[in-house]
Amino acid sequence: MIPLEDNVGDIIGKAQRGLGIADSDLAKRAGVTRESLMAVRDNGQADRETLEKIAPVLQLDAAALIDLAEGKWKPNQIKINDGFAMFTTDYNGMTVNSFLVWDPDTKDAIAFDTGADCAPMVHRAKGLKIKMILLTHGHPDHVADLPRLREETGAHVFAPAREPVSGTESFDEGKDFHLGKIKIETRQTWGHSPGGVTYIVNGLARSLAIVGDSIFAGSMGGGNVSYDDAIKNNLQKILTLPNETVICPGHGPMTTVGEEKQHNPFFAGRI
Ligand SMILES: [Fe+2]
Repeated sequence: MIPLEDNVGDIIGKAQRGLGIADSDLAKRAGVTRESLMAVRDNGQADRETLEKIAPVLQLDAAALIDLAEGKWKPNQIKINDGFAMFTTDYNGMTVNSFLVWDPDTKDAIAFDTGADCAPMVHRAKGLKIKMILLTHGHPDHVADLPRLREETGAHVFAPAREPVSGTESFDEGKDFHLGKIKIETRQTWGHSPGGVTYIVNGLARSLAIVGDSIFAGSMGGGNVSYDDAIKNNLQKILTLPNETVICPGHGPMTTVGEEKQHNPFFAGRI
């Protein structure tokens, strides 16, 4: 399995930036020293006492944060036998995920994002016909290989109206897509980016939520546009899905709604 996208230091940093809490303020409000804050955040020290004190100030779940610091949790590996493939490609030294979903009967397929390099997806799609490319958001790592994927497939490309990508068709939240027995619902899960969309895919053996950078296994995308809305959208539009729904994030491993409700420090205990 690919590693978790974020470590405890990343999570603390995202919460601090999102809530606008400087180091000195956090140390003071939590009643810890600056040194112990640096040790857990910047050096990965699994210091339970410090984590327990800073978690509530950052509105994070202490137990979930400590489990991650101690390496005690990662999501169970997910296998989907037919109609689904995940691709992890390298983008300037980091990795990004893209996904392919198809109707096993008709062989018609939908690509979700392109990743840095669409070659593995195009290779896997031999014998399938990619009819649509659906973009979760417009960040460069997710759409990096769009010209080539479009050229190779001749597929229609759709992007959220609130986050247009040049040369694509726009759609608003609530638009449904259908392809054979695959049905896709759209929910705006913005906050990380202005118009990020979660695609809820039904018709395969497992229901999927293809979330872009809205939520990761054990973390979430940075709330660059609005941290509050990123949190709220994840709680209301993703974590209300059935527990067994598979979350397919833009970075890091797949997970499920049930696992994130229990183990994600941003959301555990909040839903
Ligand atoms: Fe992003």
